[in-house]
Amino acid sequence: MPQQKSKIILAIETSCDETSIAVLKVMGDKKEPHFEILSNIVSSQITVHAPWGGVVPNLAKREHERNLVPVLLRALKEAKLEISNSKLLISKKNITSILEREAELREQFLKNILPLAAPKIDAIAVTHGPGLEPALWVGINFAKALAHLWQKPLIPVNHMEGHVFSALIRGKEFSISNLQFPMLALLISGGHTELVLIKKLLQYKYLGGTRDDAVGEAFDKVAKMLGLGYPGGPLISKFATQSKILNQKSEIILPRPMLHSPDLDFSFSGLKTSVLYKLKELGKISVATRNAFCKEFENAAIDVLVVKTIRAAEKFKPKTIILGGGVSANSALRDRLLETVPQKLPEVKLILPEIKYTGDNAAMIAVAAYFNLKKTKKSAARITAQGTLSL
Ligand code: KG4
Ligand code: ZN
Repeated sequence: MPQQKSKIILAIETSCDETSIAVLKVMGDKKEPHFEILSNIVSSQITVHAPWGGVVPNLAKREHERNLVPVLLRALKEAKLEISNSKLLISKKNITSILEREAELREQFLKNILPLAAPKIDAIAVTHGPGLEPALWVGINFAKALAHLWQKPLIPVNHMEGHVFSALIRGKEFSISNLQFPMLALLISGGHTELVLIKKLLQYKYLGGTRDDAVGEAFDKVAKMLGLGYPGGPLISKFATQSKILNQKSEIILPRPMLHSPDLDFSFSGLKTSVLYKLKELGKISVATRNAFCKEFENAAIDVLVVKTIRAAEKFKPKTIILGGGVSANSALRDRLLETVPQKLPEVKLILPEIKYTGDNAAMIAVAAYFNLKKTKKSAARITAQGTLSL
């Protein structure tokens, strides 16, 4: 039997507040690729940003600089890629100029990475946008330094495309050969709320999105108003489940912005302001009222997300609906979709990402990179951070 050819991709993700590096092995051909995630290390900066109630770009940059080298060493070790010392030392000069603006990272790189022999990988992938530009640049310059040192091609990956592919990862080993197109993607995170039609692999059409705040941002801001901490999504979700108000009427009623507008757009800033006014009106609130706020806010957000997703599906007739982004970890939203989609769209397959791939991670960037391998033709030196990159 001829040995099956495989490709190994090392991916780097630093678009926001997670430093993540993954190693992906791909077997088989383009038509029937089989994936194996050899490692996916995620180092979260939540405790650094929590006191500020949101992600502070320059703190994120500093943390990525500190974390990238240890995260890389762990990712290589867990993937069982050999990391022996090299006899051949590449000149420090080029690395120093690539990492000119990242002093702390540069020092760690020269000490711990420069002496290593190149691991057996075929390409390096890096998120180049959208995201916080100071954070993106650290990952990009680190990837450029590695690509130069190890003489590997570099693939720039769109972070939102990563979230699209995150829904398709199933366990450590998986295939995605029997996908049914067109697909409708609801992408919901701290920076995005959008409905995208995927006619076929890598072909995206923007159908609608938020006109102001992203839904995750609204969760975070409302949590801050309620004094819950950061990030707000998981906390609101937790306190919502503790709310005793089931079907009886609550004293807290919030609007469902744009629920009845015929388009596929969203607006969450008015919902957030309604929470603020209601809180001002009530003054000091009890734990029960706080929990009721969480439940009603979560319900309001879910109502509009689900109604607009169903509306988009009725109009564009996808065969599959997929979810991606940090907010897709929300269990009430997942439950609602699992109930509503089979009821209203019995022919449509709903694919939810595994919880561990809902937040930012490099495994999804590596999978997206595999389908973008031809982008490696672009000269690595020309890759730049693009904060507002779209699909
Ligand atoms: O995709 P992600 O990790 O980072 C960005 O690319 O923005 O998404 C982070 C967002 C945050 O706003 C966070 O509050 C929200 O996802 N989030 C949730 C939940 N878990 C995370 N929102 C609602 N419910 C959750 N369980
Ligand atoms: Zn994200």
